[in-house]
Amino acid sequence: MAEVIVVPGRDAAGAMVAEATERLVQGKPDAVLGLATGDTPLPVYRALAERVRDGLDLGRMRGFALDEYVGIPLAHPQSYHSVIEREVVRPLRLAPANVHVPDGRPIGIETAGERYEDAILAAGGVDLQLLGIGTDGHIGFNEPGSSFASLTRVKTLTRQTRADNARFFDSPDDVPVHSITQGLGTILRARRLVLLAFGAGKAQAVAAAVEGPLTASVPASAIQLHPRATVVVDEEAASGLAELEYYRHAFANKPLWDPVIL
Ligand code: F6R
Repeated sequence: MAEVIVVPGRDAAGAMVAEATERLVQGKPDAVLGLATGDTPLPVYRALAERVRDGLDLGRMRGFALDEYVGIPLAHPQSYHSVIEREVVRPLRLAPANVHVPDGRPIGIETAGERYEDAILAAGGVDLQLLGIGTDGHIGFNEPGSSFASLTRVKTLTRQTRADNARFFDSPDDVPVHSITQGLGTILRARRLVLLAFGAGKAQAVAAAVEGPLTASVPASAIQLHPRATVVVDEEAASGLAELEYYRHAFANKPLWDPVIL
């Protein structure tokens, strides 16, 4: 079962994950961070950027984004290439050549998944994978029904996901229909998973992912298969969890030899 940590809010979550990332990089300067996009990981990136301004050097850290839209130009402000550049590469002062995003351009899309898998393997795998969760239970863009063994490939976005992401675009019709996403099998290969979720809108998906049955209908339930998965949630996102008191008790009594996240 995933370890569940309830935090007072987004900033506390960001600080906690940034601290773990700094520890990771101190031990392994060229560590590989798995990068999520969307609103959820922003507090982590903000907290890391602050540490970088205070002297933390992430110049050798490597990154692999979870996903990308298919069929929007790389330069579009909402392409995940642009988002990762704006929210991660520049503020964290990463070397652009160290950061990878799946290639969602139509030409070569048939082989883009395989190429991305090869690049992750060549980098030695992901050390710490950041994850958000969709209201329909997706992680990456692995929509309900995705195989637990899936690797990076093209997925059709659900109506729900397109509606959820319409806020990033001028019109709901502008949200791409397809994405290229790391598979659940790809995500499960990462050495450490941290799933973050904030707000009441995520409560049902979090409860289903953490405590529901393992099912492709809730792709995030795949994290139950991972031996080192941590779920960091605020009170609202935690509100659907049946075993909340146990998670609080376990965290309050966390052994000193067992560091937070890693
Ligand atoms: C984005 C991603 C998605 C988001 C999810 C939640 O790279 O992988 O799974 O994490 O759609 O999005 P937000 O964080 O915007 O609520």
